[in-house]
Amino acid sequence: MSKQRVLTGITTTGTPHLGNYVGAIRPAIAASNAADTESFLFLADYHALIKCQDPAVVRQSSKEIAATWLALGLDTERAVFYRQSDIPEITELTWILCCNSPKGLMNRAHAYKAAVQANEEAAEDPDFAVTMGLFNYPVLMAADILMFSAHKVPVGRDQIQHLEMARDIAQRFNHNFEPLFTLPEAVVEDNVAVLQGLDGRKMSKSYNNTIPLFLPEKQLRKAINKIKTNLLEPGEPKDPDDSTVFQIWSAFAATEETARMRREFEQGIAWGEAKKQLFELVNDTLAAARERYLQLMDDPAHIEQVLKRGAERARAFSTPLLAQVREAVGIAPMR
Ligand code: TRP
Repeated sequence: MSKQRVLTGITTTGTPHLGNYVGAIRPAIAASNAADTESFLFLADYHALIKCQDPAVVRQSSKEIAATWLALGLDTERAVFYRQSDIPEITELTWILCCNSPKGLMNRAHAYKAAVQANEEAAEDPDFAVTMGLFNYPVLMAADILMFSAHKVPVGRDQIQHLEMARDIAQRFNHNFEPLFTLPEAVVEDNVAVLQGLDGRKMSKSYNNTIPLFLPEKQLRKAINKIKTNLLEPGEPKDPDDSTVFQIWSAFAATEETARMRREFEQGIAWGEAKKQLFELVNDTLAAARERYLQLMDDPAHIEQVLKRGAERARAFSTPLLAQVREAVGIAPMR
């Protein structure tokens, strides 16, 4: 049986936090080690430009995110790990797809619609601060996916629409020109943990409630101590299912350890003690990776070399497919 090609893009904005680790990075690395899959993982730095126009921040995030994946043990011999901007075929394909994607389809994209709606609510011009980058976001994402004939694309619920658009764009191209594109399928993982943040809401940069993944030990302890709890005293039974401390615990602990902590909650463990144990667990889990992360952040030339090698492997697929696409639409040598 031929391998399933699984492709995932990581937008390079922000500093990775525990929620990214549990919800995306850890499962993607595990999946990349499965025998029956071929993983394509890439830094979506052109997607980052849509959200961020500060070059220093774009550069720093790309470096942090690359170092994070490598530090956490992504095997770059197995997985093809590259940077979107190192693959010029993706942006070329984006243009060709733009010329074949109905504007009406893009008008329906959630991210664009949300921006327009926010403008309308603020009595602004509907297009205020809407860039063509934001509008074309789904086409760039379709190019990312179709360029590598991905079968499966693991995504969060917010990205399902983009996958539908990628399929739509592929089908239209296959019908109008030549059947060159594989129709990708969204894979929505329902049983990966969505981690809660300091205030108990979903951990997310937009809520400003995150715990960065590679905080130095002291700051990690401080951050964990800031997790919101209720006022129950030591000795009073606590509801594990209503506690962010327990929720993060169970995302990191083995099954038996989670069962033990549940009993401790029911027996009234003090919040201070529960947080101390949580700190130790998270710190032990991440300490070695944090060490590697710091080394990598100090050695950008190494990261660069890994990404360049990944780009070479990726372009072994994208170059021949783009050549066929160009030929199919009539961009070809005179003859
Ligand atoms: N848009 C995705 C996100 O914000 C990131 C992304 C870019 C992506 N290109 C992709 C994900 C291709 C999957 C496949 O999460």
